[in-house]
Amino acid sequence: MDTPADPFAGGALRVASYAALRVVDGTITHRGSYDELRALAPGDEVVDLTDGLVLPGFVDTHVHFPQVRIIGGLGMPLLDWLEHCALPEEARLADRDYAAGVAADFVRGLVSSGTTTALVFGSHFPAAVDTLFAEAERVGLRVTSGLVVSDRLLRDELLTDPERCHKESLELARRWHGVGRSRYAVTPRFTLSCSDELMAACGAVASEVEGARVTSHVNENPREIETVAQLSGGGHYVDTYDRHGLLGPATVLAHNVHPTDAELALLAERGGSVAHCPTSNAALGSGLFPLARHLAHGVRVALGSDVGAGTGFSLLKEGLQAYFAQQLLGERGHPLTSTHLLHLATAAGADALGLAEQVGDLSVGKRFDAQWLRPAPGSPLDVGLRHARDAEDALGRLFALGTPGDVARVWIDGEPVAGG
Ligand code: GUN
Ligand code: ZN
Repeated sequence: MDTPADPFAGGALRVASYAALRVVDGTITHRGSYDELRALAPGDEVVDLTDGLVLPGFVDTHVHFPQVRIIGGLGMPLLDWLEHCALPEEARLADRDYAAGVAADFVRGLVSSGTTTALVFGSHFPAAVDTLFAEAERVGLRVTSGLVVSDRLLRDELLTDPERCHKESLELARRWHGVGRSRYAVTPRFTLSCSDELMAACGAVASEVEGARVTSHVNENPREIETVAQLSGGGHYVDTYDRHGLLGPATVLAHNVHPTDAELALLAERGGSVAHCPTSNAALGSGLFPLARHLAHGVRVALGSDVGAGTGFSLLKEGLQAYFAQQLLGERGHPLTSTHLLHLATAAGADALGLAEQVGDLSVGKRFDAQWLRPAPGSPLDVGLRHARDAEDALGRLFALGTPGDVARVWIDGEPVAGG
């Protein structure tokens, strides 16, 4: 199953039962029946994936590398959670060996959950960012990441200055941008922790690294938004990025739970994307994501796990929570089908990351980034799938009941990266 046609624009779920894909050097070259493809290529190795579901690999558009070991810190709103849960752990990544261990946990967490592409919030420490890129390269993950920068209001050891930011970011981009599947993302943490001078340095890096992506946070929590308004002297939160050239088609801003209409209009005009992170929004009590308003303005939206405020790596869980949030909004919510959820977790993410020509669905010409979901016989998911009315119903059961434990195998560029 996949979603090559956008269901938010009327597209339907694509289902191919007992079908075959031919993959040559990591690219899907044919789709058809098994007999057709066997006749076409009688010498090919056959990988039998009957008795399960094959989906495109998930695309996580917002996830924090240094936070894998603190998932599940409940009971605090954003700024308290940062101070007491996230930032003490992030400071530990000053130690390169510690960072390397975290990178291994992190990349394993992603791929074992069916995620094959991710836009990753890196670390404040360049050597730690190196360990992330190195581990992603070793495993094969399609990663976009970079040095996280801040110069105010966080603990001292996480702060930098504009000159150092510029120098260290360019060094990392030189080492990793465009190398294999890795790309660089300019990453100011959020306006609360970044002065105008630091944002300007980020803007300079973004313009000097051709094809660089940009990512940050926006409009997540009322106290955060109020502090940003006080610090930035007029204008709105989205403008604090835009005025430094940090908002464009290559930008992904996470959360945007409390936008004004003017901010949504500017996001749409610039072609920026929003990473919707529903388990994080629920866990930190940030609020219910106004999806209908984003869609009405034409803002591109995809899914992010936001580990570690988010409660796990699985975009199945994020999809289900995205559905819940729209239900809870009542008339202000946008009703979501399982097809919408799959699209948000795959093709929409590929589009937000500028990778739609390579990944996001299983069309001919795309890279074979895929996952095989195969629940244990007799498990609730197995029972549900066997009794589903149709494919879309089966997909709903998968979002409701599926976990990383159901991900039997994962491929990136046709190569197995996790599972048997
Ligand atoms: N805003 C700034 N930093 C963070 C973070 O680490 N997590 C979340 N959810 N929001 C942030
Ligand atoms: Zn985040």
